[in-house]
Amino acid sequence: MNLKLRRPLVAGNWKMHGNRAEAERLVGALIARGAAAGTAEVVLCPPFVHLADVGRQLAGSRITLGAQDVCAEEPGAHTGEIAASMLADLGCRYVIVGHSERRALYGEGDALVARKFQAAQRHGLVPVLCVGETLAERERGATREVVLRQLDAVLSNAGADAFAAAVVAYEPVWAIGTGRTATPGQAQEVHALIRVRMAEKDARIAASLRVLYGGSVKADNAGLLFAMPDVDGGLIGGASLKAEEFTAICRAAEG
Ligand code: PGA
Repeated sequence: MNLKLRRPLVAGNWKMHGNRAEAERLVGALIARGAAAGTAEVVLCPPFVHLADVGRQLAGSRITLGAQDVCAEEPGAHTGEIAASMLADLGCRYVIVGHSERRALYGEGDALVARKFQAAQRHGLVPVLCVGETLAERERGATREVVLRQLDAVLSNAGADAFAAAVVAYEPVWAIGTGRTATPGQAQEVHALIRVRMAEKDARIAASLRVLYGGSVKADNAGLLFAMPDVDGGLIGGASLKAEEFTAICRAAEG
């Protein structure tokens, strides 16, 4: 029985991987393996160029489509950008905003991330807001301060009500793609912090908010992480590119 009363969610962030043939093979394998056959909600976030194809392939399956990023602006003269309305038009339901790779490699700050979050919601997309500290920040004891700053930047712009239709992902930067995952206890501590901050604004929304863990989640560590009371699933990078592994992670989220 899932005592959390929140439907677990497992999202695969393919990052910048895969050509069309590989995308098709992976999606086919996930459908065949019944990745979304259980109680957990399963989302795939392929690169923009594969969204239409993957969306068509997912039609009639229980797997949902998401994107990895979105422009904060409405359609217009923004060369190279993708508007939220375009993602919605392609059938996306979710979009990742504020991933640490966007923050670190593309200079996205809290204010821009907040605007992306709101742009997504204007078009009915559910933003998956990523927060998380670097190793240096953790080592100097700034985890709480960084995570709350990133969360508050969105809370103060969008308001607590906006989180009724949003997901938060705690992704410690030092655990992403490194094979070094947070311990279940470390994850739980920050997830609880996020939920307590939300509860200060709105207890009902805090209780229903799904907070995902991300950072080197694999089939063999997912179960213990997802068993933590405030961990409601995962945002999966590398392991989402392997059908068997990702399906096992989806199983582990079923609670
Ligand atoms: P990882 O990536 O699972 O490869 O560590 C997670 C993420 O960046 O979302």
